[in-house]
Amino acid sequence: MDDNLCMAAIAERTGPLEEAEFEAAVHRINQGRLQEGYQRLGTLAKTTRDDRLRSRCMLVLGDVLERMGDLQEALRAWSMLADKPADRRNDIDRRARARIMRAFDEKGLLLPVPDFPPRIQLEITNRCNLRCLMCTRNQMTRPTGDMSFETFRRVADEACLEPGVVICLYYLGEPLLNPALEEMVAYLCANRRRSGVNTVFGIQTNGMLLNRDRARSLLRAGLRGFGFSLDGLEGDLERIRPGASYSVVERHILGLMEVAGELGIHDLDVCITKLCDDPAAPEVARFVERWRPRVANINLIGISKVEGNAYMAADGTIRQVGPPDDARPRHYCGQGSRLLVHWNGDYAFCCPDVNGELRLGNVAERGIREVWNSPEINEIRRRIQAADYTGLPPCERCPHNR
Ligand SMILES: C[S@@+](CC[C@H](N)C(=O)[O-])C[C@H]1O[C@@H](n2cnc3c(N)ncnc32)[C@H](O)[C@@H]1O
Ligand code: SF4
Repeated sequence: MDDNLCMAAIAERTGPLEEAEFEAAVHRINQGRLQEGYQRLGTLAKTTRDDRLRSRCMLVLGDVLERMGDLQEALRAWSMLADKPADRRNDIDRRARARIMRAFDEKGLLLPVPDFPPRIQLEITNRCNLRCLMCTRNQMTRPTGDMSFETFRRVADEACLEPGVVICLYYLGEPLLNPALEEMVAYLCANRRRSGVNTVFGIQTNGMLLNRDRARSLLRAGLRGFGFSLDGLEGDLERIRPGASYSVVERHILGLMEVAGELGIHDLDVCITKLCDDPAAPEVARFVERWRPRVANINLIGISKVEGNAYMAADGTIRQVGPPDDARPRHYCGQGSRLLVHWNGDYAFCCPDVNGELRLGNVAERGIREVWNSPEINEIRRRIQAADYTGLPPCERCPHNR
């Protein structure tokens, strides 16, 4: 979900001022002041309400990253533009796609990947207390369960030795349903102290179970990163996430912040995420208006539209997702920058592959570094980057590569 549009805030800006800011940033870049230009463009991309300007920023940000030697990040920036179906790409998206193709040609197609996954998603449980309309969990047919502490420990011990790794303690399910979450958090904190490596970790939650007692025990265990999936204000949230209650989740978020204050915790990191079909919709502006004074981070996330699911459109109506359009040409889906571990220890490589059909083995058999650099995973990378999805069952059905 990290590949989506992220806006820390939506600022009130005017068109000509933003245009001038863009010009000023590009001017810096042309003068060779890459870092400065990069920062200004990054801020502009996050704050502007103008989609086209944001796209222009992303295109140039990719160019700067490439010049700075970070091709992986450059490709990520361009992919945000180019991963649209061909018939919906505009001139900027097409230019981004051309940049990606050129990079592929020059580099022999396989994207450069770090030798250890920068982000590991641990499905500490795939049980859930809600049945959200849009959730890819609706397509999950594997058995449900909680991750054993032994499985967790194997992953944590290897991952915590690698600087810069981010561990997400969730995948398909509600992490607060795992009663061992506090113990897992405490273990990660102990590993961090022991190794001196500052592993970053956090949860994403629907917030329904995070009452003050649970907040206190998680904070005491050492958890600081809390993402709340709050997809709408009163009424909307209940429609999108049957079983959820806006007033309860709001109370729990504010309660968490109060409890942190009582415990003297100053490094609490709360992020509110909102799925949205159109970041410029009035309901999004109302949402941001309500939450901007309360939390530092608001992430607006594009909805992955999977056949059989439903979602809330920009006009507030609930729409059913139909089958993907087979006539559309396939393109590189952008997956490959993270590793997932299912609750039973099975490795997975791609978020939309909810049943783990791209088989890579189990943590009891092989370590993270081994699987991440294995011939099997490299072959999958090669195939998806070439948009050659035939015979890869989840990819053949996936809406992300059209
Ligand atoms: C699968 S949930 C698991 C964690 C927790 N149960 C929750 O709801 O936050 C993780 C994230 O996936 C997001 N998500 C679910 N369905 C999605 C979709 N169709 N497109 C994009 N994100 C989705 C949720 O909003 C949530 O932020
Ligand atoms: S709460 Fe999270 S995991 Fe559960 S159905 Fe909703 S989005 Fe999916």
